[in-house]
Amino acid sequence: MTIDYTWWKDASIYQIWPASYKDSNGDGIGDIPGIISELDYIKDLGVDIIWLSPMYKSPMEDMGYDISDYEDINPDFGTLQDMQDLIDGCHTRGLKIICDLVVNHTSSEHEWFKESRSSLDNPKRDWYIWKKPKYDAEGNRQPPNNWMSYFSGSAWEYDETTGEYYLRLFAKGQPDLNWENETCRKAIYDSALKFWLDRGVDGFRIDVAGLYSKDQSFADAPIVFKDSIYQPSGHLTANGPRIHEFHQEMNKEVVSKYDVMTVGEICHCSKEETLKYVGATRNELNMLFIFDVVEVGCDESDRFRYNGWKLTDFKKAIQSQSEFTKGTDAWSTVFIENHDQPRSVTRFGNDKKYHNKSGKLLAMLETSLTGTLFIYQGQEIGMTNVPRSWSIEEYKDINTVNYYNDFKAKYGNDPDFKEKEEKLLDVINLMARDNARSPVQWSAAKYSGFSTAEPWMRVNDNYTEINVESQLKDPNSLLKFYQKMLKIRKQYKDLFIYGGLNILDYDNEQLFTYTKELPNSKSPKAYVVLNMSNESTKFTPLIDGDFKLIVSNVNNDELDEAVLTPYEGRIYLVN
Ligand code: GLC
Ligand code: CA
Repeated sequence: MTIDYTWWKDASIYQIWPASYKDSNGDGIGDIPGIISELDYIKDLGVDIIWLSPMYKSPMEDMGYDISDYEDINPDFGTLQDMQDLIDGCHTRGLKIICDLVVNHTSSEHEWFKESRSSLDNPKRDWYIWKKPKYDAEGNRQPPNNWMSYFSGSAWEYDETTGEYYLRLFAKGQPDLNWENETCRKAIYDSALKFWLDRGVDGFRIDVAGLYSKDQSFADAPIVFKDSIYQPSGHLTANGPRIHEFHQEMNKEVVSKYDVMTVGEICHCSKEETLKYVGATRNELNMLFIFDVVEVGCDESDRFRYNGWKLTDFKKAIQSQSEFTKGTDAWSTVFIENHDQPRSVTRFGNDKKYHNKSGKLLAMLETSLTGTLFIYQGQEIGMTNVPRSWSIEEYKDINTVNYYNDFKAKYGNDPDFKEKEEKLLDVINLMARDNARSPVQWSAAKYSGFSTAEPWMRVNDNYTEINVESQLKDPNSLLKFYQKMLKIRKQYKDLFIYGGLNILDYDNEQLFTYTKELPNSKSPKAYVVLNMSNESTKFTPLIDGDFKLIVSNVNNDELDEAVLTPYEGRIYLVN
């Protein structure tokens, strides 16, 4: 079999969330010069590409995913010149850099929206999605339909100026752009894409890339949550009728003219649909993120409706994340963290008793899976979720804050409110996006070496034990192990990056065992066995052959061939 090696397939990508990476000027907010000061650290980690979450001008209602000017930088993060220095600083080190492309919506502070809302006949009126109110039997004004915002409540916002509602699937200040309007699409291409590609950016992570094409009926969504007035808009907004046409157009008009990569955030979709986005000959996206793994145990439309998961659920999710490409020319991604997800060592490992060991186990899992690899800042040192003891006031994310306030408005007067609230706070502590957004723990110094002033979000209490400085000195640290695993992934890239996944012993709720191999190949296979539990268990090889251990997360002198201790993982080469 001939392998289609491509730079963006081989790449390991490191995601940076600018507000929390590193503060260079002592205002408590991470910034671009701070990132530049750590480029050598990032290079030494062994990654190839940086994905920078939004650094654009923004009122920060949704931490920069509400952009008021695509062609400028949030002054808290730096200047256009700083951004150019970052791009150049990456390139001189042989790193590439991709930006977040947020074009499902803008901020309501964007000039386009200000014009659009100013009058019914403004030339940009149709650049956003405006609808007349509905009136109920009592004559009360109501939103045009029952769609729910991803950040709670109605997805429609009433605007006094013209007496109409605009659609905003996310925050109030994030009006959805109207992709049906061709002039609007062309303006997006010029301002949000070309502007940055011409400055040397190597591609984009495309925000909610499946939501641009709304079903033009704007019909009510089916009732999924009986306890809620508003309902997830589901297929009426996700993977809609013209979505592939839009992606093909954006690719043809802009992306294809540069040697760059794209990865789309697609959330949830069927295997057939997935292949439409990332089939090589479709010319839409290079790869995508689906949420099966990171949302295991959660309701697809609401992560705070959480039911827990078994290892078999996790295996199934891993399978659907990577296996859809088998036998096709499509490409996949591997990720277990990002700025919208809790910390993996808390969620999938054991962040207390086996912090170092289960962190390493997850590193072995991720670096041995098929597709382009993504690592989120702080994952490399095993940053954990924030403590359960923190009060709700420490959570800053609009998603968490709105959800909690909504819940309180609804159940605040119930006699068992306290009990209900504690349960919700458990889930918030486990699943909230805030968990990923606490400042990076650089050292044991005050404010974790992130800043000299009090940071915009509280530093996780465990920074004196878990930090970059101490892990750089410790040969047995998780950070050193990540560096090693990223090398091993490249060394055996035919198996790990390009090889197909075969899960063995699927029903086992303690061990995750799989092989990685190229189809019809005579070369050795990789055999991966991961004990994802707090108990020891017997180890017996499940296939024939000559087993040679290439890496494990326990020291050689502690290794007992026949027993896998809690969270022990091994990768063998089998001939
Ligand atoms: C994506 C981003 C998330 C943001 C949302 C709206 O899901 O990852 O952080 O809140 O889109 O832009
Ligand atoms: Ca700063």
